[in-house]
Amino acid sequence: MAINEMTPALQLVASPWAQHLKPSPTLAIKEVADQLKLSGVEVFDFGVGEMNPFVPVPLALRQAIAAAQLVESHSHYTAAPGDNSLLEALSEDFRRFGMTYAPHEIVICPGPKDAIFKACIALVNPAMPRNRVVAFAPSYEAFENVPPLTTGKPAIILPTDDRFFPKVDELERLLATDPTIAIIIVNSPNNPTGVVYPASLIADLAQVIGKYPQVAVISDESYRTAIYSDEPYSSIAHHLPLQTLVVAGISKELSSTGLRLGWVAGPAQIIRVIANVHGNATSSCGTDRPTDPIYQIQLARLKVSQTRRAERDMESRKEIKRQLQLRRDIALELFSSLPHLKRCKLTASQGAFYLFPDVTAFLDTRAPSVDEADAAEVIRTDKELALYLLRAAKVVAIPGSEFQRAGHLRLCYARDEATLRAGFQAMDAALARLSPASK
Ligand SMILES: Cc1ncc(COP(=O)(O)O)c(C=O)c1O
Repeated sequence: MAINEMTPALQLVASPWAQHLKPSPTLAIKEVADQLKLSGVEVFDFGVGEMNPFVPVPLALRQAIAAAQLVESHSHYTAAPGDNSLLEALSEDFRRFGMTYAPHEIVICPGPKDAIFKACIALVNPAMPRNRVVAFAPSYEAFENVPPLTTGKPAIILPTDDRFFPKVDELERLLATDPTIAIIIVNSPNNPTGVVYPASLIADLAQVIGKYPQVAVISDESYRTAIYSDEPYSSIAHHLPLQTLVVAGISKELSSTGLRLGWVAGPAQIIRVIANVHGNATSSCGTDRPTDPIYQIQLARLKVSQTRRAERDMESRKEIKRQLQLRRDIALELFSSLPHLKRCKLTASQGAFYLFPDVTAFLDTRAPSVDEADAAEVIRTDKELALYLLRAAKVVAIPGSEFQRAGHLRLCYARDEATLRAGFQAMDAALARLSPASK
């Protein structure tokens, strides 16, 4: 009997909303880079947005993790929003950012990404009169990918100006003319551009959004402790506490991307709903299992408050920022001194840990053929340029079009100095080999 006679055809159909979900571009590129590394190729990986191991997890946290391995019999669920001692520690921590959130106004999630997802599920559904999510391009992938999954409609992506700042008047026009707007996502310091919104811009955005008290703001502050300019930390939550959900986490703040701990804070009534969504999905982040990294972090936090090391905890975030700033300075110096990188228009990164150069000077070019049988490669788009850099310089960079801004590349500079120097030089040499393509 032929196999297809024996095996009934699959009749299951995946949800069209889920089917159309784009894979995370950063994680997809990480897979390519990891494969290359496994096959022995030396890769200059400026792809995925994490700093570990080059800027390591703080020692105090690692020690607490090690100590937690000795704790016995902690294997229980917590209340849906998280263990109260951790919620209290986070509540205390928010005060350092000028915000007052009681423990019951916070939900602990497995990472900031998960917190954004659950906030969207809690706030919108397609049947609500207000059901559209707005973000500003270029933007972090989740802002484009999550809304279609929770509302069936694409996110409304508004352009930014030439400094990558939201255009307040465009937002104002949209809010005045479109009564379906439910959520506006603000992200400063910004991924992928590295810009930090000035306090005055945040105040202007708040002034406009504040006229629509039914509209929520998700303020993604995953990089709030990585600001290098003199611009003081400023959050839209300071202006609109009744409209804002603040999202943050330890991924970028404590160099702990894989430990999966984030949180969302906001008005109690909405937070209660998010906690319920969370309780029906992941739940219990911060269980007291000794092998659970989240518990270990909880323990670290507890130790912090018990031994009045709270200040030292902030100190570790300041040290991480210092480490990132050193790398940012090297990256900027290389971009201003290497002859071909210099040709990219670059807005200096003032926060987070990305450069987002405009690479249009290298589009519509031709790469030399690898051998005689090989046709010269024509590079028209940022995606083609990223592929060329991977092939010719073993440099991993993420095309700007993955962040809804074509003609750019995103480079994560949270790497060691040797990788930065060698990788940027390899990139410069590869760019030098491009010649104009005849149209
Ligand atoms: C702006 C922003 N928000 C949220 C996240 C999500 O962080 P995590 O994947 O650790 O949950 C990221 C990750 O790169 C990010 O850049």
